[in-house]
Amino acid sequence: MTLSSANPNAEEICRMAPVIPVLVIQEAASARALAEALVAGGLPALEVTLRTPAALNAIRAMAEVPGGVVGAGTLLTPDDVRAACAAGARFGVSPGATDRLLDACEEAELTLLPGAATASEAMALLERGHDVQKFFPAEAAGGVAMLRALAGPLPQIRFCPTGGVTPGNARDYLALSNTLCVGGSWVAPEELVAAGKWEAITRLAQEAAALA
Ligand code: 3PG
Repeated sequence: MTLSSANPNAEEICRMAPVIPVLVIQEAASARALAEALVAGGLPALEVTLRTPAALNAIRAMAEVPGGVVGAGTLLTPDDVRAACAAGARFGVSPGATDRLLDACEEAELTLLPGAATASEAMALLERGHDVQKFFPAEAAGGVAMLRALAGPLPQIRFCPTGGVTPGNARDYLALSNTLCVGGSWVAPEELVAAGKWEAITRLAQEAAALA
C-alpha cells in the first residue's frame, strides 16, 4: 500500500502489511540494518518500543530507511509523545490509554494506535474518535474468541491484536472481520538481532507478510 501523506492514519498503518513488528532494541547501532531487513521482507510499518535507552536513537536511525514507516510503542506519558515525535516517529502505539496521553497525541498530531482490552475501554476510545485500536494483551485478554465477540456489538471498531500473537495463531486473528493486522515480536528475535543475522530476519518478515 502506498501512503498518501506524511501523516498516515491508524487504518493506513494497519493496512500496510499483516504484521507490525514489535521491536525491543538494545543497540541503536543495529537499528538501521534491522529496519532495512524488515522492510525488505515486506513489513514496512515498524513499532519501536520505548523500553530501552536505545529506543529513541533507534527511531531516529530507522526513520531514514526508505519505504519504512517507524512508530514508537509503549507510549505512556505526554513526555513520551513529545520525545517520540522529536525522534521522527510517524505514529504511536500504547498498551492502554489515558486522557493525558490521548490529549498529548492530539496536540502533537501524532497518529495513535491506542490499546484496549475490554468493551468499555474500546467504547471510551471510540468516543475519542479512535475506531482503530490495539487489542492488548491479545492472548491473555481472551484472544480470537474475545475479538469475535466484540465484533457483534462493536463492528465499527477494528483492531491490531498484540501480545502472544505467533505464526501459529496469527491467521486465526487475521481471518476476523474486525482485525486489520496483528503486532508481534517474533519477526525480530533478540538473538538474531544481536548476531546481525539480517537475512534470517528478512525471511521471517517474508513469512509474516505472506500471512495476508
Ligand atoms: C509486547 O508487549 O512486547 C508486545 O505486545 C509484543 O508481544 P509479543 O512478544 O507476545 O509479540
